[in-house]
Amino acid sequence: MTLDDCTLNLYDDKALSYCNPFDCGHSDLNDFFLNDSIRYSDQLLGKTYCFTLNSDPKSIIVAFIVANDSIKTTHLPQSRKQSVQKLIPRLKVMRSYPAVLIGRFGVSKEVSRSGIGSEAIDFIKAWFIHPKNKTGCRYIVVDAYNEERPLRFYEKNNFKFLFTTEDQERMFLKLPSDAVLKTRLMYFDLIVLKS
Ligand SMILES: CC(C)(COP(=O)(O)OP(=O)(O)OC[C@H]1O[C@@H](n2cnc3c(N)ncnc32)[C@H](O)[C@@H]1OP(=O)(O)O)[C@@H](O)C(=O)NCCC(=O)NCCS
Repeated sequence: MTLDDCTLNLYDDKALSYCNPFDCGHSDLNDFFLNDSIRYSDQLLGKTYCFTLNSDPKSIIVAFIVANDSIKTTHLPQSRKQSVQKLIPRLKVMRSYPAVLIGRFGVSKEVSRSGIGSEAIDFIKAWFIHPKNKTGCRYIVVDAYNEERPLRFYEKNNFKFLFTTEDQERMFLKLPSDAVLKTRLMYFDLIVLKS
């Protein structure tokens, strides 16, 4: 199966009541899509979408939420600030670069590791460089679970860590040095896709 066998839908009340419960194998995420995502959308905090299977429209294959965000260079270490800025012509030194946040992202555990998740990430990347977009968006950012599977997944999809080390991330997020980082901030520079 590929993403071509699926249809993109808004994940709204109608989809929630029509579709079978989404199960990506991650209880926090399953709970979010079941109980919180509609309220998020209602409050304009994010927009939730799902890909459903054409041959079984009740079956959600991928679910994700996207929201406007930014990368603030004032909140980055010098080395990362340079790598974020180096590909941007110095028309104007900006303190903040427009981005979109993938707030939550999950793939049905039925089709795990078949490449569908990567296809959906490519789809989202393509969305935000579309010539008809109303606003500019330079980066995709994600607050990935600090677990092997999602971190490898995003790295495989060419996302980089915004902070090179966990210590650096704790420092810039002003967290205590012994705080457990449940997530890691990662980013993808969309400029590489613009022809
Ligand atoms: C992480 C997740 C999105 C991956 O989706 P997927 O469709 O299985 O991913 P793909 O098949 O496109 O895999 C791409 C790469 O991700 C990595 N990956 C995927 N599943 C993995 C696993 N179980 N263990 C280690 N690496 C894994 C691999 O590098 C893989 O490439 P490879 O198969 O060539 O080695 C999916 O497993 C999921 O929904 N997990 C639960 C929720 C979650 O963690 N979401 C992301 C955080 S917001």
